[in-house]
Amino acid sequence: VRPRDLEGLRVTVTAGGTREPIDPVRFIGNRSSGKQGVAVALAAAARGAQVDLILAHVDEGVGAAASVPGIAVSHAGTAAELLTATTDAAATADVVVMAAAVADYRVPQIADGKVTKEAAGETLTLELVQNPDILAGLARDRRAGQTVVGFAAETATGDALVERARRKRERKGVDLLAVNEVGWEAGLEASENSLFFVDAAGDIVGRTSGSKRETADALWDAIVAVRAAH
Ligand code: C5P
Repeated sequence: VRPRDLEGLRVTVTAGGTREPIDPVRFIGNRSSGKQGVAVALAAAARGAQVDLILAHVDEGVGAAASVPGIAVSHAGTAAELLTATTDAAATADVVVMAAAVADYRVPQIADGKVTKEAAGETLTLELVQNPDILAGLARDRRAGQTVVGFAAETATGDALVERARRKRERKGVDLLAVNEVGWEAGLEASENSLFFVDAAGDIVGRTSGSKRETADALWDAIVAVRAAH
């Protein structure tokens, strides 16, 4: 059992995967279940924080687990909606944790009607344009005393994973990056997770594996330590 060491803090947490529409019935999505982000929100609330939880698409039942005192839930389906919701919430947050899997690309022109085989023929080419990097923007614009935390799901292993994590921490400009190795089996939809944390100096300041709630508490331990060192 952790102490109520987040009492008096306002935190924003995003969870789940965005869906980028192609036409009225189709989207580009990803396998994020939302479990890790919701666990981060629940752990924060249990430790006394006031939590704004912004959900993109999450698996059945995952969002319902977040209806507890101390957590205000809102919804954002696309990367563009998530950008607006997160920027609004971040304006009053002491800590922002971006656990959502945000689509890197979107379809620039969403079709008014269903894309049909008759119209497209044998092959169909989708043009995609980059979405803004919400996390990098939050880190760039953060206020004094505000802590911005990102996640990185990587398919690399070993030294290459650590190197990639350090570069991503630097590119995003975040105070802390939680890194997990993902593959066809591990990470996204599973109940268990393995994470390590990279701080602003590029140092690995913690490793954890266990349930998503246990890894969420280890993340808050690392965030508390980073804030204390400021
Ligand atoms: O670059 P990559 O997608 O691996 O970075 C992952 C981190 O960046 C996550 O914290 C995710 O929430 C955030 N992200 C974002 N906006 C994007 C893409 C990723 O905030 N467009």
